[in-house]
Amino acid sequence: MRIILLGAPGAGKGTQAQFLMNKYGIPQISTGDMLRAAIKEGTAMGLAAKQVMDAGQLVSDEIIIGLVKERIAKPDCAKGFLLDGFPRTIPQADAMKDNGVLVDHVIEFDVPDDVIVERMSGRRVHPASGRVYHVTYNPPKVAGKDDQSGEDLVIRDDDKEETVRKRLGVYHEQTEPLVGYYRNQAEQGLTQYHHLDGTQPVEAVSTFLSNLLG
Ligand code: AP5
Repeated sequence: MRIILLGAPGAGKGTQAQFLMNKYGIPQISTGDMLRAAIKEGTAMGLAAKQVMDAGQLVSDEIIIGLVKERIAKPDCAKGFLLDGFPRTIPQADAMKDNGVLVDHVIEFDVPDDVIVERMSGRRVHPASGRVYHVTYNPPKVAGKDDQSGEDLVIRDDDKEETVRKRLGVYHEQTEPLVGYYRNQAEQGLTQYHHLDGTQPVEAVSTFLSNLLG
């Protein structure tokens, strides 16, 4: 099962990726998490990416395509994978197609910008696992601590309102055209396209996805 989760920053892709990963036993490939891991390791690529990410812009297609190519060639992707945050531009989607990587489902998370800005202000993350919480809508069992490891949760550097608004602008300009791109592919029978109301509560979105994917 190969799935693309498509949607604006904060639309809930990472939250549902954790749910789908546990339910279907396929890995989550989050380009954002991969970049944040490179930043933590202090690699040259990570340091260059940090400046771009903190400014709310997209990292170059070349770097991202290289990262994903390498990742999906690993053995744990043999049965499928969940792409979370990739592709984000038409060249990234074209690169995937040109390399013969087809996907079974493209799932669009639709959430208005104002809801997203509010969500991001309450987001807390566990960097080591990629688990995501919200202080009100999806709180951890113990405030400020990850449910499974008990480690501290953190606020992402790019979750400041000003940066979130910039990221939303970049999304509308560079990523939203992928909606038409994949609807087109679905019409040609190359994938299945699904639209999802991402303003529903977390559990309702998970139930929708379970019903959709079986
Ligand atoms: P990335 O890490 O991919 O961030 P993003 O796409 O901006 O998405 P997020 O992880 O911020 O949001 P999400 O949809 O996963 O929402 P979440 O589940 O956390 O990218 C970061 C940066 O890396 C980019 O800006 C770019 O610079 C670079 N980058 C990454 N990929 C790239 C690529 N392919 N090309 C170029 N550059 C790239 O939910 C958000 C909050 O809402 C949480 O608090 C959550 O608990 C809460 N929530 C979730 N669902 C619900 C719900 N249904 N109801 C209420 N609250 C909810």
